Amino acid sequence: MYVCSCFGITEDQVKEHAVNGACTPRQIASASKAGTDCGSCVRRIQALLGRGACPRRELIDRRAPALDRLDDAA
Ligand code: FES
Repeated sequence: MYVCSCFGITEDQVKEHAVNGACTPRQIASASKAGTDCGSCVRRIQALLGRGACPRRELIDRRAPALDRLDDAA
């Protein structure tokens, strides 16, 4: 199903970008251009990212131990 009809970006493509590290609508736009024309899809992209499409965001929200170790190393 298309999320962004201006650029023909599907829900699966947004999820794939999220898995590869794009955790915000802006990062999705950088990766795919989705949301950079009429903008009507940005809320749908936000909703997709908020539903676990971005594993890294989930880790940050849960303050995964691995991220705590990264904080210590920084
Ligand atoms: S539908 Fe995504 S920019 Fe228009």
